[in-house]
Amino acid sequence: MTMRVLVLDSPDAAGASAADVIEAQVRLKPQSVLGLATGSSPIPIYRELVRRHREEGLSFAETTFFLLDEYVGLAADHACSYRHFIQEHFVDHVDVQPSKVNGLDGTASDLDAEALRYEQAMIASGGIDLQLLGLGRNGHIGFNEPGSPLDSQTRVATLTETTRQDNSRFFPPVDPVPVRVLTQGIGSILRARNLLVIATGAAKAQAVAATIEGSISTSVPGSAIRLHPEVTVTLDAQAAAHLRADAIAQDQSSAV
Ligand code: GLP
Repeated sequence: MTMRVLVLDSPDAAGASAADVIEAQVRLKPQSVLGLATGSSPIPIYRELVRRHREEGLSFAETTFFLLDEYVGLAADHACSYRHFIQEHFVDHVDVQPSKVNGLDGTASDLDAEALRYEQAMIASGGIDLQLLGLGRNGHIGFNEPGSPLDSQTRVATLTETTRQDNSRFFPPVDPVPVRVLTQGIGSILRARNLLVIATGAAKAQAVAATIEGSISTSVPGSAIRLHPEVTVTLDAQAAAHLRADAIAQDQSSAV
């Protein structure tokens, strides 16, 4: 298995490095299907992609997108929904066709049916070419919390208290973070042809080390990426601080 672990000086540099991977995919295949992630870590990536669209003609007009996860109960236009996040940070600033942006409907009356519809839509699209992922402090990917089966599919899931506290910074003080979410499963994520993970900041250092160097286990959902043959991990120096030096390759491939 080959995993490229790229360590950059700053979150912005990590974002630019991840943007390079996305740009290469879209230039190679403009009709790519990209899986998009939310959270603070990918923001520098979206900022850089928007800049490249404006200044360097990078086009997303033919690209299809699938979001990774969504809060149950939040409509697409809710300020804290992930659908809204992706509009605000990316879609509104590039030449994406709105009909090609797919998200999970957190207000669906039948959430199980919504999860199944989404899984089938991803498959019908031809499958995700490149899936972007952040990493939770507890090692979660998407909203697959510790304990999530490695072959899990898109489904309704329950957040841990840690994640709700971490994500409360995105919500107004009076608004509780939803307990339930819809998320692509770990198995759904692993079906993507390529994975691109970004993690920045000292708070992620432990989760990064457990993901890359610990045992592959449901207790660290991120560790499942090591079951995938094509993975790039972009880190800043702080997030990489607990990694063994030999796990890290600056701008080159390394077998982990
Ligand atoms: C949320 C998202 C994850 C994301 C994680 C980390 O829980 N569901 O997909 O990876 O946050 O977020 P941040 O980058 O803000 O630390």
